[in-house]
Amino acid sequence: MTVGVAIIGTGVMGAEHARLLDREVSAAQVRGVFDLDAERAAATVARVPSARAFDDPFELIADSAVDAVVVASADPTHERFVLAALAGRKPVLCEKPLAPDVAGCERIIAAELAVGRRLVSVGFMRRFDPGYLRLKQAVDAGGLGLPLMLHCTHRNQQAPAGLPSESLISGSAVHELDIARWLLGEELSRITVHRPRSSRASLPTEDPLFLVVESSSGVIIDIEVFVNSGYGYEVRCELVAERGTVSLDAPAPVVERRAGAVLRAVPADWRPRFAAAYRSELQNWVDSIEYGAPCDAATSWDGYAATVTAQAGILALRTGLAQPVSHLDRPELYPAPTGGARPAQSTAPG
Ligand SMILES: NC(=O)c1ccc[n+]([C@@H]2O[C@H](COP(=O)([O-])OP(=O)(O)OC[C@H]3O[C@@H](n4cnc5c(N)ncnc54)[C@H](O)[C@@H]3O)[C@@H](O)[C@H]2O)c1
Repeated sequence: MTVGVAIIGTGVMGAEHARLLDREVSAAQVRGVFDLDAERAAATVARVPSARAFDDPFELIADSAVDAVVVASADPTHERFVLAALAGRKPVLCEKPLAPDVAGCERIIAAELAVGRRLVSVGFMRRFDPGYLRLKQAVDAGGLGLPLMLHCTHRNQQAPAGLPSESLISGSAVHELDIARWLLGEELSRITVHRPRSSRASLPTEDPLFLVVESSSGVIIDIEVFVNSGYGYEVRCELVAERGTVSLDAPAPVVERRAGAVLRAVPADWRPRFAAAYRSELQNWVDSIEYGAPCDAATSWDGYAATVTAQAGILALRTGLAQPVSHLDRPELYPAPTGGARPAQSTAPG
């Protein structure tokens, strides 16, 4: 048996998901793609022989050869495609964010609740990264004692000129906001955003930004986001606990010694850094559809919580004031419905 997949949006991420599903994920076949940019769709179809390009995304989602949908189009379009997949009772893996606005996430959760079983997964792929999984194992094992602080760094080599400063929170730091909830197993409650001096390479974008986030039990999470670091893509994470610390090490396995220096390559973007995570995320998702295996991907609730927290961060950036992370006490959206294949939500509400 094979899961027939539709991919909506064949830009950087959609093309990569198509390649992985075609070449590296078992029990899956890409049956169709749609992108507003027909040339991009055609370029993906040329590399993935099982796929054909559709003219209408909703016809593609409804097509009988399509069992499941990957949404990798521009952020504001996610909601309508996720809702179309839910209307067809088809599992959907939506790239982050689930929706850029809180109301959009709420509409998606309401539609999923109406179906009565888990169908939505959100592409917070760090939950599948071997390094982050080891961090979580160390935290959950309990030997470190209670977590006290989490230091996070998120650097990109270069961002598009004129990127809105808010995107550093909603597009980049949102990964840290999700991974902090997942690592600590609790909600975030308060967020402040500091503006260091901006890099001259970034202006008018305010870059870097420095976020200070509190969890509901009092763990302090600091997040540096610097999207024009100039040198490459790098993510760091160190958890400080009562009896020790645990941190990600540099993932590159090769170190070169030459000309009086020790050199370790830094990738230019996130794809090589998280290659194993993207592959494992897709395989886990396909296995959950094909064999009923537990789906470990972020849920619609996780996507909602990430958007709520990012929106509070954007308000903190605009006002210069600490903001509460509200809207997370929503029993009507949580827990997930019973009677379907939906596993427990991965993170409890605060
Ligand atoms: N999980 C991650 O690590 C990660 C990394 C980067 C981007 N993303 C997310 O993935 C998504 C895609 O990002 P990207 O970097 O591939 O961007 P991209 O700009 O390279 O690709 C987006 C594609 O969506 C298409 N598109 C726009 N509106 C559309 C519509 N209405 N219908 C169909 N296609 C449409 C565009 O033509 C483009 O080809 C975004 O939501 C982004 O936030 C996730």
